[in-house]
Amino acid sequence: MQLFEQCTVGKIRMNNRIIRSATHDGLADPVTEGPSEELIRKYVYLAKNDVGCIIQGYAIVSRDGKSNYPRCLGFFDPASEEGYKRLTDAVHEAGAPIVAQLAHCGRQTSGKAIGTRKIAPSAKRHLLYPDKARAMTKEDIARVEKDFVDAIVRAKKCGFDGVQLHLAHGYLLHDFISANGNKRKDEYGGNLENRMRIVKEIIDAAREKTGDFPIWVKLSATDKRSKGMRVGYAVEVAKLLEQYGVDAIEVSCGSVQDGMNTMRSKRFPMDAIFAYREPVASLPRALNRFVLALAKLVNPLIPQPKPLELYNLPAARELKKNVGTDLIVVGGITSLDEMNGIVGEGFQAVSMCRPFICEPNFAKKLKEGVSTKSQCVMCNCCGLVIEKQPVRCLMGKVTYPVGKAEKMQKSE
Ligand SMILES: Cc1cc2nc3c(=O)[nH]c(=O)nc-3n(C[C@H](O)[C@H](O)[C@H](O)COP(=O)(O)O)c2cc1C
Ligand code: SF4
Repeated sequence: MQLFEQCTVGKIRMNNRIIRSATHDGLADPVTEGPSEELIRKYVYLAKNDVGCIIQGYAIVSRDGKSNYPRCLGFFDPASEEGYKRLTDAVHEAGAPIVAQLAHCGRQTSGKAIGTRKIAPSAKRHLLYPDKARAMTKEDIARVEKDFVDAIVRAKKCGFDGVQLHLAHGYLLHDFISANGNKRKDEYGGNLENRMRIVKEIIDAAREKTGDFPIWVKLSATDKRSKGMRVGYAVEVAKLLEQYGVDAIEVSCGSVQDGMNTMRSKRFPMDAIFAYREPVASLPRALNRFVLALAKLVNPLIPQPKPLELYNLPAARELKKNVGTDLIVVGGITSLDEMNGIVGEGFQAVSMCRPFICEPNFAKKLKEGVSTKSQCVMCNCCGLVIEKQPVRCLMGKVTYPVGKAEKMQKSE
């Protein structure tokens, strides 16, 4: 297999094997929660610049699954359909397929953001979103399953080439699959098959309504939670996903509670944390600066997950030994050699997030031989900017003061 060749990945035709991994862009239309014109322009630019496929940033399937991030996409309101249709038409016209990532935030949000008590497989707190979730009733589970299925039907209707169910990074479906988040004693917990039941029921019901419309998943094959995801267990999960007829698995890792694990960095981006993350961002300025100075002193002592490069490849290799489903590798991929190596091993595609935030025309540069390595310095500032603003690359540099305008955006 070659990186730059016409191919089919998870039943979707692509011009090459380079995927823009789902990235919350913070560019939803504030009224419909569908795509804004700015988001459409951004995705058209990616498509015109040789990305093989775009996975849209996560779009939320239920009102009580909304994200804490401002201007996150919603996928529950018929009012958003017109915008999604314009988006898919424009991206197709520009030459790339587009996949809708569908998510429910579960306990990775706040009651304040969703206007009600948040829900999760089990009543548990989250380190970063401390209000306690309530355990879902069976009625909640049936309703959320229906929301996912309705969203898959909507994605097909709006012209997406497929969907990707977000089973990763600590969101609701990850929490169901993992024994860390799922302590249920009923048929939705207790063993692997039961923990996977919600995923199976969503896929089965979606297949009845959408036939062979491509369904991909993003899976955290590992995380750092006790009793959480480990490679051996992820292999068993992947075998079931294959049985359920999932078309492609994107192999990722981590939970938001792990810190910088999903997207790795040498150090916490302290400047960006103190500029964009609440509650510290709103501390009086002098106190904010003082605590930041202390935090920067201890920062080099805080261990970070390693390695920084190709960190999901070992787990992806284990999955590959055990399942025939198309596999996509994400995480710390930055050079042409790495991409060729991954595809050369027989993985169907590579996907990247930060390299495209940094250089949205990165795929074209690779194709034309203008570049062989991403300019992203993996500072992870972009991962903090989204707490208040649309995503952008800061290249490790936070400019102060961050400003009142940004606080206003948050409250919009
Ligand atoms: C700003 C930002 C937003 C992200 N949004 C999403 C998202 O919406 N859905 C998702 O599955 N992963 C999301 N991720 C994770 C990436 O898709 C990817 O898995 C991770 O960054 C590792 O890939 P990379 O090393 O190429 O950045 C996001 C990451 C960043 C930095
Ligand atoms: S802010 Fe820019 S350089 Fe830093 S990780 Fe994000 S994309 Fe890369």
